Amino acid sequence: MDRLLRPSAAAGLVIAIAFIALLVGFPSLAARMSANRVQAATAPSSGKTASTEPAKVEHAGGGHAGFTDKAILERGKQTYTKYCASCHGDAGLGDGPGGANLPIKPQNLTLGAVMNPLPDHFLHKIIADGPQAVGLSELMPPFKPQLGDRAIDEVIAYVRTLANPPYEPERVLPVAEKREGPVQPILFSHVIHAGSYRLDCQYCHTGARRSSSAGLPSVERCMGCHKIVAAQGNAQVQKLHAFWEKQQPIPWVRIFKIPEHAQFPHKNHIAAGLQCQTCHGRIEAMEQVHAKTGQNIVNDLANLSGMAIPPTKLTMGWCVECHRAVNDKGVQAVQPVADAWGSAPRPPTADDTKPRKAPLECVACHH
Ligand code: HEC
Ligand code: HEC
Ligand code: HEC
Ligand code: HEC
Ligand code: HEC
Ligand code: HEC
Repeated sequence: MDRLLRPSAAAGLVIAIAFIALLVGFPSLAARMSANRVQAATAPSSGKTASTEPAKVEHAGGGHAGFTDKAILERGKQTYTKYCASCHGDAGLGDGPGGANLPIKPQNLTLGAVMNPLPDHFLHKIIADGPQAVGLSELMPPFKPQLGDRAIDEVIAYVRTLANPPYEPERVLPVAEKREGPVQPILFSHVIHAGSYRLDCQYCHTGARRSSSAGLPSVERCMGCHKIVAAQGNAQVQKLHAFWEKQQPIPWVRIFKIPEHAQFPHKNHIAAGLQCQTCHGRIEAMEQVHAKTGQNIVNDLANLSGMAIPPTKLTMGWCVECHRAVNDKGVQAVQPVADAWGSAPRPPTADDTKPRKAPLECVACHH
């Protein structure tokens, strides 16, 4: 699978950049920007590598917590005071006079829990092109071309210092710079809901632990929040309100699908302790859900030529290979024993190491 090859190349590049940055004593920005590009190239499928490697560059080149070039932070602060404080407030609390009458309050930029998962390029897009570029409202103006790329990067470096709990670059989500996957009827972002606000996957996909299909949330479930949250002033949320008023379901485009002749039950897999991300990738880092699935000629050729590359997701080989692995060594054999959110690794539980009884006979999956 191509994603297995890319991270190592990318990691090499990142280390090289970090090394050069150290040698030349390069100010942080150039290094950080290249790191972002590398991060984007490896994201979103290779969450682990992408989220940890660029962090080294951050440390090497500075960019936060003590290492950052004071001059950069000082210029960032000046830009902030001039262009942002009127709405976001002097201390970043979202309480500036310019935001008082807006239907959606300016973000409290000190909320580390919400802000820290978002990568620099994501914030850059919001500041340069306006929040609507990521599905949020148009209530904040785009700052391009008023502010150049450098000034925006500097203000981001400054905003990072406001966060509580403090910003930790290694926990940033590996969000791709370019959206993949089909355009949906509403720009519903898993990065905002599951990544930044950390809503539980099963809060919306309630069927996962109870039935065969994970299910999509009803319009009612969305409205449970959006009758109040961003009820006015966000064009995407207005589309949601329109479906609600017409009492119509939202025609989401289906992404993960196996053929009719095979069956996949979510329930048993969730009960066994598998994380959603093991099979679906880092959905919380996807602005648009996408999947590289099904038959794959490159994959087949690589396997024929003797390279032991795991089969593409959602093929029969993928199901069977995992079943063999978990029957031998438990679910720890197939998923990183780390929290899928990118927080500290957790020790394997007895359940993770318990050999499983996943079926290998044809009729279990074809009936
Ligand atoms: C006219 C008022 C206004 C100004 C000026 C303004 N903002 Fe905002 N900003 C907002 C509002 C309102 C939102 C919330 C948008 C939403 O949630 O739909 C926001 C959201 C944001 C977000 C997104 C946070 C998130 O939810 O992920 C960032 C980052 C941000 N602003 C940074 C800045 C920076 C940096 C500046 C100065 C260069 C700035 N803003 C200037 C009003 C403003
Ligand atoms: C538990 C509360 C909650 C639920 C449930 C919820 N949202 Fe949101 N949603 C939020 C919050 C918080 C924001 C961020 C608002 C802001 O910063 O302006 C948001 C933002 C959005 C946005 C703008 C940002 C983006 O994602 O593009 C859209 C569109 C949206 N929600 C659609 C939906 C839809 C569709 C559903 C149902 C499938 C849904 N929401 C369910 C809380 C919720
Ligand atoms: C606020 C509700 C909400 C939350 C929280 C949420 N999702 Fe979703 N999810 C949706 C909606 C709506 C769709 C359909 C639109 C789309 O594909 O983006 C979807 C689509 C998906 C799909 C693709 C379904 C298909 O068509 O194949 C997967 C997989 C998925 N979500 C997994 C997750 C995982 C994993 C998490 C937790 C990290 C999560 N979701 C959190 C609402 C949510
Ligand atoms: C063992 C692998 C695996 C795990 C773990 C897994 N899924 Fe799935 N998921 C699949 C497959 C395979 C499909 C396609 C099923 C089909 O076409 O019938 C799918 C389809 C989906 C869909 C779209 C169709 C549906 O079932 O509604 C959603 C949404 C979804 N998964 C969400 C989740 C969430 C949320 C989790 C974690 C709570 C999760 N999945 C865990 C393999 C997995
Ligand atoms: C763990 C689940 C699982 C088991 C066990 C399983 N299959 Fe499958 N099979 C699938 C899935 C999922 C697909 C569809 C994805 C694909 O085409 O690779 C599939 C596809 C197929 C296809 C269509 C292949 C194609 O290229 O379209 C055939 C034929 C098939 N299986 C036969 C069998 C036979 C015979 C056995 C027993 C020796 C078996 N399967 C066991 C899950 C399974
Ligand atoms: C990441 C690993 C993994 C993947 C991928 C995977 N499975 Fe499983 N599967 C499991 C585990 C773990 C169990 C639970 C075994 C247990 O309960 O002891 C299981 C159980 C099952 C069961 C038995 C349910 C029952 O009634 O006991 C079926 C059927 C099944 N899987 C089908 C599939 C199909 C079809 C696919 C591919 C589309 C698939 N699985 C992909 C790990 C996986």
